[in-house]
Amino acid sequence: MFKRTHNCGELTDRDIGKEVALSGWINTWRDHGGVVFIDLRDREGITQIVFNPDSNKDLHKESRKLRTEYVISVKGKVGSRPEGTVNTKLKTGKIEVVVSDMDILNTSATPPFEITDDAKISEEIKLTYRYLDLRRPAMQKNLRIRHKTVKAIRDFLDSRGFLEVETPILTKSTPEGARDYLVPSRLNAGKFYALPQSPQLFKQILMVSGCEKYFQIAKCFRDEDLRADRQPEFTQLDMEMSFVDEEGIYGVCEELMKYVFGEVAGVTLKTPFPRLTYSEAMSRFGTDKPDMRFGMELKALKDIFKGSGFKVFESAINEGGGIFGMNAKGMAVASRKELDDITRFAQDNGAKGLAWIKFTEKGAESPIAKFFEKERIDKLANILRCETGDLALMVADKTKIAEETMGALRLHIARLKNIELRKGFAFAWIVDFPLLKYNEEEKRWESEHHPFTSCKDEDMELLEREPQKARAKAYDLIVNGIELGSGSIRIHRRDLQEKIFKAIGISKEESLSRFGFLLKAFTYGAPPHGGVAFGLDRWLTLFTNSDTIRDVIAFPKTQKGICPLSDAPSEVDQRQLKELNLRLTKVQTQ
Ligand code: AMO
Ligand code: AMP
Repeated sequence: MFKRTHNCGELTDRDIGKEVALSGWINTWRDHGGVVFIDLRDREGITQIVFNPDSNKDLHKESRKLRTEYVISVKGKVGSRPEGTVNTKLKTGKIEVVVSDMDILNTSATPPFEITDDAKISEEIKLTYRYLDLRRPAMQKNLRIRHKTVKAIRDFLDSRGFLEVETPILTKSTPEGARDYLVPSRLNAGKFYALPQSPQLFKQILMVSGCEKYFQIAKCFRDEDLRADRQPEFTQLDMEMSFVDEEGIYGVCEELMKYVFGEVAGVTLKTPFPRLTYSEAMSRFGTDKPDMRFGMELKALKDIFKGSGFKVFESAINEGGGIFGMNAKGMAVASRKELDDITRFAQDNGAKGLAWIKFTEKGAESPIAKFFEKERIDKLANILRCETGDLALMVADKTKIAEETMGALRLHIARLKNIELRKGFAFAWIVDFPLLKYNEEEKRWESEHHPFTSCKDEDMELLEREPQKARAKAYDLIVNGIELGSGSIRIHRRDLQEKIFKAIGISKEESLSRFGFLLKAFTYGAPPHGGVAFGLDRWLTLFTNSDTIRDVIAFPKTQKGICPLSDAPSEVDQRQLKELNLRLTKVQTQ
């Protein structure tokens, strides 16, 4: 092996005439009339190397043995590429290296796919051969962006006096609402550790420990149904601070975002970020993580349709619900089939049905137009700003269902219309979340965030009377329709904590067995504190323009929670089970 003088992305016409040594993988191999051209690839790029029979017969013969993904080390002289063969897309596109010596460091089996960014590869194959997939330039770039992001985060937080502290992976259940991954303890028969769903309890204990400003790039584990933006094992930037209120947290986070987006993406974010209350986000966008890069806001239409006599609308209103609508601009041309498809989409997202009215040259066209006087239709057009050529879409239902369906429909219509999104990153804080939500199945109240979240001081008295109205000191940071992070000001006094436990029906015994260690710590002078956690993987999809967080995680799992590379999870042998005092019941394999 020759000692490298340069990498494969480095040489330009300024290096012509130099003797160099390169190492890397064979990306492509071409034989042009006896001359062998190879694109040699390493982490930094691609350089064309040439084996010419006229200058070295033996070496040329040797070069014909080479195949893609062989690993070689070469010595040679930098020359200019012949006229007409210059590749302006590559930094090294003006030169080539005429090889004078070569060492074949390793051969390679024929790869199951080409190592290029435009190769169409199934997810299963990609992950089985992840080491080959990661050789692709786009994936190399993603790894680098991830590194750069984490470094920028650490640099910024260090400059602000935050300490990075690691918290246990073998621990006790944490209350983030997903299922736990459990690990049996050999030394304590019949007992289990839980992998942390987040470092929540430990970061609060660090505040009791006097740490004041904590952060961690923390692995979290949640056994939940997976989607494009969810992995069973993912990474948070987790933060906690003492002696802060919401404003203090917003301030640090905005500066952090500004710094990291500047360093990594080269964009200047405008701060402070806009703030929307949860109820405003729901009524204007039908979701608590609105994509605010485009308009098409929802409007409440109850007042317009009250007393109209149209049964579907009337019964929704009488049952305490509402009617929400939006203007699908320019879509009056939609065919019956297109409207049926949109209706089906609304139904798949929870609506019982979808009402539509086309605004055409002939007036309002709709199977339900006959139910409404002209005055109502005019009012509707006015509030939705519908003009000729537009389509009004409406859902009547319980308020939450109608809002959420319209929220999903808003995104669906934007996709159908290929709506132009404002460039850049549309951040916002969603604030004033409800403290509690009602679990219909279990017929009890539960925490919207987690049970350590403070209630707004002025809403404490609502806890017993009208729990649904009590607001939390909780906030989410959203960007381009993604929930990037979430946090809250915590309860630091035991008496208040007990009140909340009571409201969500956690008994004293249960609270002691689940969180006793935290509650005990709170009796020894816990400072007021609060924090936030950002989904690092989701954050990286913004910098890498990825559709799924799998593209920014070196070794992710499939939708079924499998790692096709290592074949985890897998069976274990009887001896291991015995040591752990476990016995398997018959499992049905699908
Ligand atoms: P939360 O559960 O909202 O809050 O998580 C914080 C952020 O983590 C990301 N995230 C995920 N990313 C990928 N895969 C998953 N399965 C997944 N689950 C969550 C999201 C989310 O906004 N301890 C609290 C934070 C706090 O109160 O300080 C917590 O974990 O981007
Ligand atoms: P129906 O009475 O079910 O025949 O519905 C009459 C019209 O109202 C149809 O155009 C339906 O698509 C529409 N519709 C039905 N349910 C709803 C609903 N919950 N919200 C809005 N429109 C609806």
